[in-house]
Amino acid sequence: VANTDYYRPVYHHTPQYGWMNDANGLVYKDGEYHLYFQYNPYGSRWGNMHWGHSVSKDLIHWEHLKPAIARDTLGHIFSGSSIVDHRNSAGYGKDAMIAFYTSASDEHGQIQCMAYSNDNGRTFTKYEKNPILTPFDGLKDFRDPKVFWYEPAQKWYMIVSADKEMRFYSSSNLKEWEFLSGFGKGYGAQPNQFECPDFVQLAVDGNPENKKWVMIVNINPGCMFGGSATEYFVGEFDGKEFKCDTKPEVVKWLDYGKDHYATVCFSNTGDRVIAVPWMSNWQYANITPIKQYRGANALPRELSLYTKDGQIYMAANVVKEAQSLRKDARPIENFTVKGELEMDTVFSKMEGAYELEMDVTPGNARLVGFDLMNEKGEKSKIYLDMKEGRLVMDRTESGIVDLKRNGKFDVHAKETGNYRKTLSVNYQNDFALGTWAPLSLCEDKTYHLDIFVDKCSIEIFVDGGRIAMTNLVFPTKPYDTLRFYTEGGEAEFSNMKIYKLGM
Ligand code: FRU
Repeated sequence: VANTDYYRPVYHHTPQYGWMNDANGLVYKDGEYHLYFQYNPYGSRWGNMHWGHSVSKDLIHWEHLKPAIARDTLGHIFSGSSIVDHRNSAGYGKDAMIAFYTSASDEHGQIQCMAYSNDNGRTFTKYEKNPILTPFDGLKDFRDPKVFWYEPAQKWYMIVSADKEMRFYSSSNLKEWEFLSGFGKGYGAQPNQFECPDFVQLAVDGNPENKKWVMIVNINPGCMFGGSATEYFVGEFDGKEFKCDTKPEVVKWLDYGKDHYATVCFSNTGDRVIAVPWMSNWQYANITPIKQYRGANALPRELSLYTKDGQIYMAANVVKEAQSLRKDARPIENFTVKGELEMDTVFSKMEGAYELEMDVTPGNARLVGFDLMNEKGEKSKIYLDMKEGRLVMDRTESGIVDLKRNGKFDVHAKETGNYRKTLSVNYQNDFALGTWAPLSLCEDKTYHLDIFVDKCSIEIFVDGGRIAMTNLVFPTKPYDTLRFYTEGGEAEFSNMKIYKLGM
């Protein structure tokens, strides 16, 4: 497909044509990572939901395949998960791939369905007795099933989002499901609606003797910067109930940007837990300045747990496979900044697709940072505010920041709760703003920053993902210049490297 979109990323996964939101059915099998996704094959706005499909051997280079599961008489094919049925629990053969998704329509509501594949996830046959699970209380928002094997009970478990909580079920044959418990009412950022759950077990500080369960909860609304975001809860699971270690009001974010949503993890990857975010926000996902396609995934991230000040947090670091994107490395000698320092056109010939790595030691500076900027004066500001103890990314002057169309825009049909209607509402600018993360999550006087820029996105990873921050930006020319600055002191920059990134 010829690329007519200026903002199409160089190295992030996007559909070739059409609309994409959540990553679905993430599963690893026979040397391939499968990325299914919420997909509209007929246009670049949300609608007609199918499961699109791409595969990769390395999480970075994706091959586009035909949509795997198409909309049917039960409705849209909403989000869900896949497993490899090593034990032939469902009777479709040992190692069949089985997908679990939500069928959504005004007629039938939101119900959980399954489909199986005997050709490594290329084509699926829907179970003839779908649905496999309906809400026991007639709940309207009941979706996005994540299925996983729970070793102690020798059973399959399902976690499903149910409005303001997550519900656990268990099954022996993947077809009949028994309700176990719900968790989440009143927990985390408020107000919220829960979507796209995941439930993973991870070693604390790398110690396999000390594992914790983590519930990943995508919420929309609820993001502290507006719209959609991903939070998580750390705790214990006894096979029936999840107990969170912290009080309901404690909020832990998986990413501190505004364009990180519907993040879930791959099945069947052993001890590695790899998550894939959708890089947008429901507040404006349908009106980004893109035509031919809409929606990209952020870079896959490896999740781990670390302890800080007696609390357990989850780090999300870019997967090591992303290093294969590095084409040409430009090391920069260590330097000190007091006041301002401009590195003109350091990113020239990189076509807006590069990685910037560095160690920043703020020293006695009150504030230290840099602008990624272009000749038009458009800039994304990234800085450490030592007085507030924050990492900030400010995109108010980053390029196109006013995403409105004629003062009004159509609210996504999905968000009205009625799939047939669209509404017009008064526009407000949800895009022009800064996002921030607490530096207290990090350990040192020196911060390691690893920043990925790709046409219309910036992803920042600090200290191995203790802070992850993902934001879209729409500069009308690529940022090619770096301007460093400090306030109230002198800061050191060391081990800086700039890489051109490409496939
Ligand atoms: C999350 C979500 C899911 C739903 C899907 C529909 O972004 O709202 O809850 O299954 O998108 O496309």
